[in-house]
Amino acid sequence: MKSQSSIQTLKGLLPFLSPYKKQFYLAGVALLVAASATLAIPYAFRQMIDMGFSGQGSIQHVDAAFLGLFAVACVLAIATAARFYMVSLLGERVTTDIRSAVYEHVIEQSPEFFETTQTGEVLSRLTTDTTLIQTMVGTSISMALRNTLLFLGGLVMLFITSPKLSSIIILALAFVVLPIVFFGRRVRTLSRDSQDKIADSSGLAGEILNAMPIVQAYTQEPFEAARFKLSVENAFKAAMRRIRARTYLTAIAILLVFGAIVFVLWLGAHAVMNKTMTGGELSQFILYATIVAGAVGALSEVMGDAQRAAGATERLLELLAAQSNIVDPVNPKPLPPRSSNGATLTLNEIRFHYPSRPDSNALSHLSLAVRAGETVAVVGSSGAGKTTLFQLLLRFYDPQQGQIDLDGINIRDISLRTLRNTIGIVPQDTVIFSANAMENIRYGRIGATDDEVVAAARMAAAHEFIEKLPEGYQSFLGERGVRLSGGQRQRISIARALLKNPALLLLDEATSALDAESERLVQGALESAMKGRTTLVIAHRLATVQKADRILVMEHGHIVETGTHSTLVAEGGIYAKLAALQFQTFES
Ligand SMILES: Nc1ncnc2c1ncn2[C@@H]1O[C@H](COP(=O)(O)OP(=O)(O)O)[C@@H](O)[C@H]1O
Ligand SMILES: [Mg+2]
Repeated sequence: MKSQSSIQTLKGLLPFLSPYKKQFYLAGVALLVAASATLAIPYAFRQMIDMGFSGQGSIQHVDAAFLGLFAVACVLAIATAARFYMVSLLGERVTTDIRSAVYEHVIEQSPEFFETTQTGEVLSRLTTDTTLIQTMVGTSISMALRNTLLFLGGLVMLFITSPKLSSIIILALAFVVLPIVFFGRRVRTLSRDSQDKIADSSGLAGEILNAMPIVQAYTQEPFEAARFKLSVENAFKAAMRRIRARTYLTAIAILLVFGAIVFVLWLGAHAVMNKTMTGGELSQFILYATIVAGAVGALSEVMGDAQRAAGATERLLELLAAQSNIVDPVNPKPLPPRSSNGATLTLNEIRFHYPSRPDSNALSHLSLAVRAGETVAVVGSSGAGKTTLFQLLLRFYDPQQGQIDLDGINIRDISLRTLRNTIGIVPQDTVIFSANAMENIRYGRIGATDDEVVAAARMAAAHEFIEKLPEGYQSFLGERGVRLSGGQRQRISIARALLKNPALLLLDEATSALDAESERLVQGALESAMKGRTTLVIAHRLATVQKADRILVMEHGHIVETGTHSTLVAEGGIYAKLAALQFQTFES
């Protein structure tokens, strides 16, 4: 049954709920007390009516009945408040835990995950979906329990009051439950659909807001506005489908429940006229019937919420279940102590295609041995596979065939942390966080002192321009570093890598955005930084390449030529042609 599977989905939340067993028990006790107090009220009422107004009782009886009623109200107030506090706390607590857990899990995923999942979608899951769960844990669970208790308790009391009328009411309620269950199922599927549509539009907005300059330069604002409108309108339509189903659910539930009660009351009124029932008994019966009916109504509403929460849970569990293809080895091997020359690197017959492109190898038959301390330049036209090579070294992807050894150890046997701590990379696309210059560079090694950061900045020829910023190293660089030029961003990125002081340094066209003057400065800095470490540098300018110990020329995922500048020029191959053109044909 579908409604069962919804409950099963919610079981996925148990690991998040179980640390708070104590709070749940306390909330349960408060709930039980409050429900009992509620159930005592009709009984007190009957006492009042039959003893007081029918003239059989004394004034003392009336006083006692009212005092009892007030006592019940006091208990009800305290127990309800306590329950509210407990379950609200649980709701907030559990949601916070889920948010952290999902985020922690998502940021460990390999790049493949982020190729197929929009970041905006993840954000929507973290906010909207967790809020639904918060509603459920913080309100719906206790509502469900409370109303179940009231329903069962009320039912028992109904039977005690009048077995005959109660039997009729039960029969009627049985007919009521079926349509409610049917519509409940529908609400659940529709609610998942609705949440998905919201996540879609968040994903879209996230991407476009990050690309505003391009959108405006191409005057595509109307296009983007229309696209987003379409997306939120879709979300609206999905929401309306859910709301309509829920509307029917509400109408049907109330109509059926109250219809049944009115019918039974009509019978009851006849019973009082025939003197087979007292007025007090009928009042008591009415109140219990109201409680039972109210409980059924509330339960159907809760069911809708629970179904929405089940949809949300399903999606969050999906995120939590995502397994990165890149996993830490079970028994990681330590790297040998760092040598004063840096790391050695061996690639043996590597073949690799991106997961999304199984038919085309980005790298094939690629073998390479780099000595400690060596500087190797990698050149080749755009799309040759240079950046891909770096991605494999960092284990963002694993090759389908072949093995990569760092200091003689297969990188699959090294913990990801150790591996990546050994490598420093200046990527092709620089990443700047919305923080100041100091913090952006310090990201290379959290815990580095201010002086160490400044020293790294000097090495990367970044010190001078940072000093000139309005607040020096404390200047905020804007979201994604929008307040810097491309060359300045690149120098921050280089400083960050140098601060890390890695044994293996990877530079991916690290100087491509620099003007001739800053390139000369950075070049000098990089040359001194290359001492005591192994460096792979993807470059598109002759000046950088000429100084390398060895040059690799890549073409369609293979290494097609290797040698030094002079040997390669002498060979008269691809490199010689490129060198003759001063590498002008290289794209960055
Ligand atoms: N994430 C990816 N998914 C699928 N294909 C990719 C991905 N990244 C790069 N490629 C493809 O792999 C090939 C090599 O790319 P890359 O290594 O970036 O070249 P470059 O030598 O310019 O750095 C190209 O054909 C490119 O289209
Ligand atoms: Mg590249």
